[in-house]
Amino acid sequence: MKKSSSATPASKQPAIQEELGVKLMTAKHPVIKKLKKEHPTSIHGDKFWSSSYLLMDYLNDNPPKKNTNILEIGCGWGLTAIYCSKRFKCDVTGVDADPDVFPYLQAHAGLNEVYIKPLVKTFDQLDVETLSEYDLIIGGDICFWDSLNDTLFDLFKRAKKAGVNKAIIADPQRQPFVDLCARLDDNFSHEVWDWELPEPTPANGDILIVDFDKS
Ligand SMILES: C[S@@+](CC[C@H](N)C(=O)[O-])C[C@H]1O[C@@H](n2cnc3c(N)ncnc32)[C@H](O)[C@@H]1O
Repeated sequence: MKKSSSATPASKQPAIQEELGVKLMTAKHPVIKKLKKEHPTSIHGDKFWSSSYLLMDYLNDNPPKKNTNILEIGCGWGLTAIYCSKRFKCDVTGVDADPDVFPYLQAHAGLNEVYIKPLVKTFDQLDVETLSEYDLIIGGDICFWDSLNDTLFDLFKRAKKAGVNKAIIADPQRQPFVDLCARLDDNFSHEVWDWELPEPTPANGDILIVDFDKS
């Protein structure tokens, strides 16, 4: 995004910001600087991606019930997981293939005084038995390679078998995600919403809701 001339210079930006009531450390925070040296991430889990802001905004309008068992897939630093725990008092697990994202997630969970259960697994390793522990799957910006189209399609099939109610996935309309949505037409009951968030951090993209109960 183009910076406006009135944007706060980087040196004056605060080390902690707030997004829908969740505290976030910015890149200039000493904890983040230290973690970046000790835990370089390997599959793009190197920041909070804007799809997470979209997902939080959608969930703000469509809140999950208290104590819902939520699995955030490709959680990265776990912003939406933390939001669901803090705002809706849900029980949340964050799963990611990259173990190096979890120190960032734990640092933010601590800052926000919530607990997120960490799980290091790939999407393919989430079997029916594991998925059966959850009511809702959420994810932000997790369909960025063509191969992830098949991976997520198969994950949805297992989620349906496992009795998961819904999956809610936000994406900045990357092609593999758009292809995945089109592919769901004949297989799952689903909706895709164009979503725009003007502030505090502007973001736009799609929200995919797969309703396994109706599929
Ligand atoms: C673009 S980042 C998004 C992170 C987070 N959802 C957000 O919105 O800030 C994608 C995340 O998915 C994880 N990931 C990528 N492929 C994966 C796979 N096959 N299984 C599990 N996690 C994966 C990456 O490690 C990374 O943390």
